Amino acid sequence: MKVTYFGHSCFSILEKGTRMLFDPFISPNELARGKADADLVEADYILITHGHEDHVADAVSIAKRTGAKVIASFEIAEWLQAKGIENVHPMNLGGAVDMPFGRVKYVTAIHSSVLPDGTYGGNPGGFVINFGDLCIYYAGDTALTLDMQLIGNEFDVDHAFLPIGDNFTMGADDAVTAAKFVKCKSVIGMHYDTFPYIRIDKEESKAKFKDSGANLVLMEIGETIEL
Ligand code: NI
Ligand code: MN
Repeated sequence: MKVTYFGHSCFSILEKGTRMLFDPFISPNELARGKADADLVEADYILITHGHEDHVADAVSIAKRTGAKVIASFEIAEWLQAKGIENVHPMNLGGAVDMPFGRVKYVTAIHSSVLPDGTYGGNPGGFVINFGDLCIYYAGDTALTLDMQLIGNEFDVDHAFLPIGDNFTMGADDAVTAAKFVKCKSVIGMHYDTFPYIRIDKEESKAKFKDSGANLVLMEIGETIEL
C-alpha cells in the first residue's frame, strides 16, 4: 500500500491499482501550500468521514474533475448530489458494503457533523477497509470510544489512521489507547498542527506510542511512503 499525505487528515492510498482519497482538505490549508495541489490529486474513490470544512473543502472540485465515487454518510451524499456529484455511495453507521477493491464498513466516531453551508451532515464516522489481505482503519475525527474495541474484535487491522491533535479530537494519550482497542501497532497520525488549537509536540507524541509498544508515523506533506 502506497500512502501519500496531503496535510491535515487528507491522505491518498494506492492499493492494487485503486486510489482512494480521504477527507480532502488541501487548497485552504496554509501548511500544504507549495507541497500539495488539490487540482492535481487523482482519485478513484473519495471517502468522507463528516461534513466539517477541514474534511470536505476540496471534495466537490476533486469529485467533479476525477469522476471518483464518493463514499460518505447519506446526508453528505445528498448534499453532494445537490451540487451535481452523481457518483456517490451513501452509508450510515454500522453498515458495510462490498466495493470492487474490498469491503468498507462505516464505523462509529464520537464527534459532530455539519457541512460548511449549515446543512446537517448526519452522523460522523470512520471507515474500516478490508482489502482481503490488508485491513486499514481510518478513524476520521473522533474521541476515544469503547466502540473501537469492536473494530479490534472484528478485524485484523494492519494500519490505523488516528487523530492525535487533541482539542477537537483525541490527543496522543487517547490515541495510544485507541490503537490498543483496535489491536493495531502501526499508526499514522493525522489532524494535528494545521491550526493553533491542535499544535502538538511531535516527538513527544511519537515517544508516547513507542512507550506503548506501537509505532506512530507522522508524514511530511507531499510525502509518499510504502506501508
Ligand atoms: Ni471535524
Ligand atoms: Mn476536523
